[in-house]
Amino acid sequence: MSRRLVFTNRKGGCGKTTTSVNVAAALAHMGFQVLVVDTDPQAHATMSLGISQADLDADLSHVLEGRWTAADVQKTTYVPRLKVIPSSRRLADFERRYSNSGEARFWMRDHLTGVMDAADYVVFDTPPTTQLLTLGSLIAGTEAYIPMQAHFLAMEGMIEIIELVEQVQRHYNPQLSVRGIIPTFFEDGAEFSEQLMEELRDRIGDELVLKPIHHNLSLAEAPGSGHTIFQHKLRSTGAVDYYKVALQVRNLGDPPEPSATAPQ
Ligand SMILES: Nc1ncnc2c1ncn2[C@@H]1O[C@H](COP(=O)(O)OP(=O)(O)OP(=O)(O)O)[C@@H](O)[C@H]1O
Ligand SMILES: [Mg+2]
Repeated sequence: MSRRLVFTNRKGGCGKTTTSVNVAAALAHMGFQVLVVDTDPQAHATMSLGISQADLDADLSHVLEGRWTAADVQKTTYVPRLKVIPSSRRLADFERRYSNSGEARFWMRDHLTGVMDAADYVVFDTPPTTQLLTLGSLIAGTEAYIPMQAHFLAMEGMIEIIELVEQVQRHYNPQLSVRGIIPTFFEDGAEFSEQLMEELRDRIGDELVLKPIHHNLSLAEAPGSGHTIFQHKLRSTGAVDYYKVALQVRNLGDPPEPSATAPQ
């Protein structure tokens, strides 16, 4: 079965999309088949992978509603082995329309089964909310990762997400657990960054705190050209940081053999 990673945090702008796209790209560069599911109506992951809204006939909302198959909606990207199920503003209407539906929260899991099984890794980029699209992703996923800005004010938001994951695990998805906190916008030598790492390790334990992603201008520039950090600037701190985190993520599970080298 594929490993299904959900990058989530209710706090906006903490690096969910940057982390989803670049961890996914790093895993694809390692030889794995990777599917990014863009569950955010802002469609930033879709755009960061070079796919323009104008080119889309259908998006994730059509898959969730059962109008299109996921296989027909997924798009290849310029990164070998990396595909994406794109998002659009239409997902915001979807979320409004079905917000009170008890069934809709299972559609992410049930309507994407085939494409998820075909991948080694599925990466969900979630919106900065804890509503239907995030809930659906957590029900479809198996591993939650919380990107968190290396700043004290971010701590409470992180605790809230850990509690949400535990609730989803209890009520809907026993396979789900929090596998890592990823400190983002980290500043070497800055007291607040170092103190935050210490506090995180104290409160949630060493093994859950993954390597930090430094504040790095190249990471902010890359989406503008629709590129991952590895295409934009391979020799940047951002590329090195995300490759290291992707290796940690890979090593946290029983990694499938890379498909590229698997027997045909
Ligand atoms: N380590 C970093 N260094 C510098 N800029 C970064 C870094 N990580 C992300 N950014 C930039 O910060 C902004 C927010 O990042 P990102 O879009 O990944 O956050 P997000 O959590 O997905 O936001 P949202 O909640 O709106 O979905 C983006 O412009 C991104 O390019
Ligand atoms: Mg985002």
